[in-house]
Amino acid sequence: MRIIILLRNVMLAAVLVFLGGVGLSKSANASEVSLQELLKKAKYVGTETCATCHDKEYKEFKLSTHARISNDKGTEGTAQGCEMCHGPGSIHVDAGGGKGIGIINPKKNPDTCFSCHMDKKMEFRLPYHHPVLEGKMSCVDCHDAHGDNVRPGSATSIEGVNGVCFKCHKEQQGPFVFEHAALRDGCVSCHKVHGSINDKMLNIRDANLCLRCHIQTNFPTIGGGSHAGNALSGRLSEGTCFSGGCHTAVHGSNFDAHLRY
Ligand code: HEC
Ligand code: HEC
Ligand code: HEC
Ligand code: HEC
Ligand code: HEC
Ligand code: HEC
Ligand code: HEC
Repeated sequence: MRIIILLRNVMLAAVLVFLGGVGLSKSANASEVSLQELLKKAKYVGTETCATCHDKEYKEFKLSTHARISNDKGTEGTAQGCEMCHGPGSIHVDAGGGKGIGIINPKKNPDTCFSCHMDKKMEFRLPYHHPVLEGKMSCVDCHDAHGDNVRPGSATSIEGVNGVCFKCHKEQQGPFVFEHAALRDGCVSCHKVHGSINDKMLNIRDANLCLRCHIQTNFPTIGGGSHAGNALSGRLSEGTCFSGGCHTAVHGSNFDAHLRY
């Protein structure tokens, strides 16, 4: 318990540092910079104040992962509840609310998220990444910060995790005559979706990506064909399971049960 409190305090300190004006993403445009300036004068008003106008978000938020780490009745003057992501709300509240009025919307700028999820910022800087820091997409495309089911990938189920990807990657959705059953474990069983050092955001770029599941010694009979002996070592020296001209249809195929094309 003590560790949790300590962790929370560290994170809240990070929010405060952020609100002090540290580290804007490249995505931050001029209006966001002036918003940061404006918010230096704002005060924290507490979640209950937000609730008076935003009943829907208030109810959703109560069920979310982030609500568990926040303390609604927190010490005055610190970021709690809504304000840990939206920043101090006094200016917004005094103005009677409104879009773009004295409040941070993390959809436009993920910096408040990074104040706690520093490691994610690093991941988005890896050579192969989703263009979040470039401002072409946002955390919100894959995560529902308010929803009751905010789990990794935003939804409750593995299907939900993939569902979020299919909004943009229709090709991998199929339906395929021969679907690769690995997809049921989620795209994340092969891809690091924030960013990766490997091309195509793969977890690993060699046969180990596949051998984690296809673990049989010499995997002689995946689908009945033999991989044992020289044929295999010959093949693997040309590339890996999916790049050696072998199982190129890794996500699924309409023509070949062995996902070769
Ligand atoms: C007096 C009523 C009122 C209070 C109190 C209030 N808001 Fe708002 N807020 C509004 C209105 C009205 C809008 C505009 C909604 C729209 O146009 O859809 C809004 C918009 C927003 C937006 C969207 C901003 C954007 O630019 O996209 C956020 C985020 C927000 N409020 C968060 C909060 C938070 C957090 C609190 C508590 C600190 C809060 N609000 C308190 C009335 C209020
Ligand atoms: C974990 C971070 C986080 C917390 C905590 C949080 N929000 Fe949000 N909020 C977001 C993000 C991200 C968006 C943008 C969502 C989108 O546009 O899909 C958002 C959007 C909003 C909007 C605008 C919705 C719209 O349709 O434009 C309102 C209003 C809002 N939040 C109010 C609140 C209130 C009230 C609370 C506390 C009860 C709260 N938020 C807590 C992250 C958070
Ligand atoms: C392309 C979709 C996508 C985008 C964009 C995205 N995420 Fe994620 N995120 C995921 C998926 C999928 C998982 C689950 C990963 C897993 O299970 O290995 C995840 C997991 C997480 C987790 C929890 C698990 C962990 O790795 O610690 C956090 C925290 C997180 N994301 C934060 C963020 C933040 C902050 C942003 C924006 C700056 C962001 N994500 C943008 C898809 C995305
Ligand atoms: C005040 C610190 C703080 C802020 C700000 C914050 N998070 Fe988190 N977030 C956390 C912590 C702590 C956890 C881990 C909770 C747990 O493990 O149960 C978490 C968990 C998550 C998860 C994993 C959800 C799960 O169920 O495990 C995602 C995804 C995530 N955050 C995304 C975001 C996004 C997107 C934003 C910005 C809109 C954001 N966070 C802002 C502290 C924060
Ligand atoms: C909002 C749209 C959007 C969503 C949602 C989305 N992506 Fe992407 N994805 C992109 C964009 C844009 C790129 C970058 C393409 C580029 O840089 O040329 C990309 C690139 C990729 C790549 C690398 C492709 C390549 O050719 O290098 C992979 C793999 C990927 N996404 C997987 C996923 C997975 C898995 C999910 C779900 C967790 C997901 N994406 C969700 C838009 C999205
Ligand atoms: C069994 C492992 C595996 C799973 C599961 C998987 N992928 Fe892939 N994916 C790969 C490999 C391997 C490549 C690279 C192929 C290459 O470089 O020739 C790739 C490439 C991609 C690309 C780049 C375009 C392409 O087809 O080469 C996108 C986009 C992509 N995957 C999205 C997804 C999405 C979305 C999911 C979940 C529905 C998913 N992947 C699940 C292994 C996987
Ligand atoms: C998350 C686990 C997982 C990963 C990772 C994985 N697979 Fe699979 N794969 C499966 C499952 C489960 C099946 C279905 C097995 C069955 O029907 O007996 C399957 C089936 C296949 C099949 C069809 C079997 C046949 O009859 O020929 C091929 C080919 C295949 N995988 C290749 C790959 C390749 C190539 C990779 C690496 C890019 C890979 N797999 C990674 C779980 C996985």
